[in-house]
Amino acid sequence: MKNSPGKKIKTAVFISGKGSNLKSLINFSKKKISNIEIVLVITNNKKAKGLQFAIKNKINNFYINYKIKKISEKKILKKLAELKIKLICLAGFMEILSQNFIKKSNSTIINIHPSLLPKYKGLNTHAKVLSNGEKYTGCTVHFVNSKLDSGKIILQKKVKVLNDDNIYKLKKRVLIEEHKLYPKAILKIFN
Ligand code: GRF
Repeated sequence: MKNSPGKKIKTAVFISGKGSNLKSLINFSKKKISNIEIVLVITNNKKAKGLQFAIKNKINNFYINYKIKKISEKKILKKLAELKIKLICLAGFMEILSQNFIKKSNSTIINIHPSLLPKYKGLNTHAKVLSNGEKYTGCTVHFVNSKLDSGKIILQKKVKVLNDDNIYKLKKRVLIEEHKLYPKAILKIFN
C-alpha cells in the first residue's frame, strides 16, 4: 500500500480499556518518521482508561454504546467518513467488526493481539500460554477480517516465557513488545 509522500494517513484507534497501545501510537504519531496522524478515538466503554490519552492530546473521541451492533457501526462509519479516515488500528477493542463495516469503512483495518497467532486466538492468552507450558509467546499485528484474530499477519515478535513467569509479568513483557511492534507494522504496510 502506498501513501502520498509527505501526507500523513488519517488514523482512528478503537479501544475498550487501558489504552497503553493507544498511548504508544500517539507517541509514534508525533515522531518525524511516523506516517500517521491520529484524528479519532472510538470506544465501546465509557469508562475506558485509555480515553484520558485522547483527551490529553485533544483527539476527537467518541463513546458508542454498542447495544445494537448495526446502529453502532453506522454511527462509526459516519465519523470515519467525516474525518476521512484511511487506517483503523484496533487496540484492545472488545468487539468483532461486521463484514459490512469492514467493506464500507474505506480503510485498512489492523489489530494487535498478545500471542503468536494463529496460536491462542481470543481472550486469556497469557493464562493459556502458561498452563500449556509454552517456551515462547509473543504478539502479532494482523489485518482484520470478520473472523476473530484471523486476518493476514503483518508482523510478529517472539517473547520468551521465563520459569518464574505469571500472567501479570508475562503480560507486562509482551506489552512492551506490542508498543514497539504496532508502529513498525504501520510503517511496513504503507512503505
Ligand atoms: C493488548 O494486549 C492487545 O494486544 C490486546 O488487548 C490489549 C490492550 O491493551 N488486543 P491496552 O488497552 O492497549 O493497554
